[in-house]
Amino acid sequence: MTPKASVNSSAISQPVATPLTRAAIFLVVTVNPGAENRVVIRHLCKDLSSLVRSAGFRELEGSLSCVMAVGSETWDRLFGQPRPAELRKFREIHAGERHAPSTPGDLLFHIRAQRLDLCFELATQIMARLGSAVSPVDEVHGFRYFDSRDLIGFVDGTENPKGQAAIEATRIGEEDSRFAAGSYVIVQKYLHNLTGWNALPTEEQERIVGRTKLSDIELDDSVKPTFAHNALTKITKDGAEIKILRDNMPFGQAARGEFGTYFIGYSRSPRTIEEMLQNMFVGNPPGNYDRLLDFSRAVTGNLFFVPSATFLENLTSAPA
Ligand code: HEM
Repeated sequence: MTPKASVNSSAISQPVATPLTRAAIFLVVTVNPGAENRVVIRHLCKDLSSLVRSAGFRELEGSLSCVMAVGSETWDRLFGQPRPAELRKFREIHAGERHAPSTPGDLLFHIRAQRLDLCFELATQIMARLGSAVSPVDEVHGFRYFDSRDLIGFVDGTENPKGQAAIEATRIGEEDSRFAAGSYVIVQKYLHNLTGWNALPTEEQERIVGRTKLSDIELDDSVKPTFAHNALTKITKDGAEIKILRDNMPFGQAARGEFGTYFIGYSRSPRTIEEMLQNMFVGNPPGNYDRLLDFSRAVTGNLFFVPSATFLENLTSAPA
């Protein structure tokens, strides 16, 4: 069966707008060529919610959830037409020393829970089902750090929309009614030069982020530089701010000196995050770029579509 021609407004979203959790696994894989592999993926799409229920029911307080998302080329291979209106490859950016690469990845699994063991159990079950149908690209185990800080020491996530506003920011509606209740998601894995960052005076770090470090209060416009991270990532259209939903997670390996932030941003249109990235990497105006990037290097970059849960459940195993 091909996906329903008109997924209506009663379609149920995947768990995009969930409360923050203490742990997450970000799993990116590519799909191996062959019709038999596509059948395996379609089976998993259909069964994903029951796999989450089985693992999640073992710890009721664990808030286990999983969002599955599909890359542009893979969409055509797996589901054919119709396709989500704005699904495309992640747009690479080169600007001066700064680079936002576009890297391989056909499927994303964003697994969240209050405990890493639950995330790990679900990742294991998913990979057991996928077997040789996919090749792993990247697996990052994220942890919530003191006061929801990232490893550069700032509270991360404060200005996220909440409740209905989070749904409004991420849930596709009439603008692409066949894919209503879907979302777009962009992920980037960043590695920080913490030695360099920690050598900066706190006041300078605060000007770069646009908030105070200890108390997490937004700098007043009279002192906030136009290159501050929260100035460059503020997008307005017709006077109204367009929000995205982030659930960044720190990760790292202390002995190797690896300190990272896994950026994940959900939005109703990928244009919003693309514009933020343009402002951060190229600058607004050009040259007035995000100084966080002097201390943070993006090593991956992917854009995926998050179909609704209803879309996934209505699939059959026959490829389109
Ligand atoms: C090195 C990776 C990154 C780090 C460490 C980081 C950290 C932060 C911090 C500390 C804040 C302020 C607190 C908050 O409101 O959450 C923030 C805000 C924000 N960040 Fe990032 N961020 C990173 C990458 C990105 C990227 C790639 C985007 C989008 C393309 C982005 C979009 C935003 C937005 C929209 C806000 C809220 C701005 C506002 O309305 O005040 N961030 N980020």
